[in-house]
Amino acid sequence: LGQKVHIYDEVDSTQTIAHKLVASGAPEGTIVLAERQTAGRGRMGRSWHSPAGKGIWLSLILTPRIPMYFMPQLTLLSAVALCRAIQKVCHVEIGIKWPNDLLIHGKKVSGILLESSGEDERLKYVIAGIGISVNLLEEDYPEELRSIATSLAIESGGKVSREGLVQAFLLEFEDMYALYLEKGFAPIRLLWEALSVTLKRPIRTSTPSGFIDGIADSLDNTGALTVITPNGERIKIYSGDIELK
Ligand code: BTN
Repeated sequence: LGQKVHIYDEVDSTQTIAHKLVASGAPEGTIVLAERQTAGRGRMGRSWHSPAGKGIWLSLILTPRIPMYFMPQLTLLSAVALCRAIQKVCHVEIGIKWPNDLLIHGKKVSGILLESSGEDERLKYVIAGIGISVNLLEEDYPEELRSIATSLAIESGGKVSREGLVQAFLLEFEDMYALYLEKGFAPIRLLWEALSVTLKRPIRTSTPSGFIDGIADSLDNTGALTVITPNGERIKIYSGDIELK
């Protein structure tokens, strides 16, 4: 991975650039990095705060030969790789909130957005978008994010090398991806579970028909979260967001 790296000063979104690169024949492992995004994208149509020079805004092109419905597994794999890289570089206590938010002291420090393109149930490619708030300081966040977002610098008490962290992430991702392609999702799932701050905790999720409260119990082998409701019913959540209670 990372044999080909495209670095930009300013882009709308590294995801958009990566999609275009795929269309012009860029191979698996190609990486797009930008100092600043003017229209950084988050999950569920949200925007992603991406100020200049303070974070890692990265998109990685992947072309695994797996069916479309295994995509969530790659999301969880990305979270595991990122979590391990951050642990190695920053020595902070960090955990994964399902499916792939990285939290330190309950605040979000990094997010992952996977965008794919497929045909006839088969995946053509995936763009793994990784956003890490590395050296943002409190004043770099808009007011509404201050209580829910944090950065590695704030949490580890000093500036963190973005180069070092990108390198550590790519190495971890390479290991996890090789393990996944060889052995499937089972070993990744174990690693994810060990890093999770979600399992066995009370959570709430909203559905079109209202809230569901319950205890997050386990992951299934597609990456969906099984929740046990107060009346003992087991339900599965395939996508969306949960709130830790
Ligand atoms: C989320 O938690 O909602 C996902 C955030 C993903 C942000 C990254 S930054 C690099 C890449 N380019 C984007 O526009 N988004 C992703």
